[in-house]
Amino acid sequence: MTDQVLQDQIAYYRARAGEYDEWFYRVGRYDWGAERNAQWFAEVETVYQALRSVGKIGSALELAVGTGNFTKELAAIAEHVTALDASEEVMAINRDKVKSANITYKQADLFNWQPDAQYDLVFMSFWLSHVPPEKLDTFLETVRRATKVGGKVFMVDSLRDQTRTSTASNHADYDPESVYHTRKLNDGQEYTIVKVFYDEALVAKLAEHGFAATYHTSGDYFWWAVGVKE
Ligand SMILES: C[S@@+](CC[C@H](N)C(=O)[O-])C[C@H]1O[C@@H](n2cnc3c(N)ncnc32)[C@H](O)[C@@H]1O
Repeated sequence: MTDQVLQDQIAYYRARAGEYDEWFYRVGRYDWGAERNAQWFAEVETVYQALRSVGKIGSALELAVGTGNFTKELAAIAEHVTALDASEEVMAINRDKVKSANITYKQADLFNWQPDAQYDLVFMSFWLSHVPPEKLDTFLETVRRATKVGGKVFMVDSLRDQTRTSTASNHADYDPESVYHTRKLNDGQEYTIVKVFYDEALVAKLAEHGFAATYHTSGDYFWWAVGVKE
């Protein structure tokens, strides 16, 4: 089933491209009121600050770049960003939004992709949660190969939010027993995707793949992990 879901996941984000930012900017079905929205944006800022604290770097690789809400931050600290995503639709929005000359965009399915270079920083936002547990080791091994010795990995993703306000109001609750989740577009079309809430145990997993990492949370909504390749 998982391989079919991973294809569905690509189709979902392609179809959702034009409405994706409603989630990040808390619009429509993702608007949970002034207080929750303010909390969300404060936590986004906390993660942005953590990324900025990496400081100036040479080359960055961003995996599953989406519409660019983190690409613009990366482009500000890196000399060059290689930006990968399966969806040309989201990359078109990203290009238009970020408008930065130091980014090279490439279409890639990350479950069938091999790095052809090593980078000072490998970054991913809201991507790891879409990697099913049985593919995590293979994926992290690919990340290891894409990172220079002494280079960094930075991952940010969703916490299992107790307030239930990180997703759309018409999405079902996450099933704690399943990594699958049904998502709806604004027109009601449904897709099944993978959503895994990786927790602090990721630090040990990253160590197995050569990264000395730390795990942090911003409050209700986000975790991030930063690791150095040894
Ligand atoms: C939750 S979004 C995250 C986007 C962006 N990083 C952000 O922070 O908003 C997940 C992204 O993964 C991309 N994606 C889904 N399956 C993929 C695959 N197999 N290979 C590469 N990208 C994929 C989608 O197109 C989408 O842009």
